[in-house]
Amino acid sequence: MMGKQVLFLINGPNLNLLGTREPNTYGSDTLDDVVQLVKNTAEGFKIVHHQSNHEGDLVDYIQSAGKEADGVILNPAAYTHTSVAIRDAISAISVPVIEVHISNVHRRESFRHHSYISPVSSGQIVGFGVDGYRLATLGLIEKIRKGEEK
Ligand code: DQA
Repeated sequence: MMGKQVLFLINGPNLNLLGTREPNTYGSDTLDDVVQLVKNTAEGFKIVHHQSNHEGDLVDYIQSAGKEADGVILNPAAYTHTSVAIRDAISAISVPVIEVHISNVHRRESFRHHSYISPVSSGQIVGFGVDGYRLATLGLIEKIRKGEEK
């Protein structure tokens, strides 16, 4: 069956500041560069991008993705470590969600080692810098082609 050929790219708090925010940790590429990278990688798919600094907005975008997309590339940023609401939104949809972290959260502060999101995500890419979004896109498309739901 032909899918919708749509992927949602969802970025959480402070990722609007990419490029100037802690460049030693997150690099110098901007959020626009990230969107372009995902668009260039996701051949044959339309990319719908949302960024918000507000938890409830992210819940709304994930719910919409469940209706409008074949899969989601999600960097929940700091909400990774705090948000049951975002986790429950992912549990409520049936399309695959790939969790991305630009930095290697496992070699940073211990509060970044726990993710509420990982147990409900289909895969996780951590520590590859902004290139992680490209890797996540390739992996997500492969899962969709194989017909994996979650
Ligand atoms: C992040 C890691 C989080 O711990 C942090 O709060 C972020 C970005 C990353 O992409 O490495 O804002 O998700």
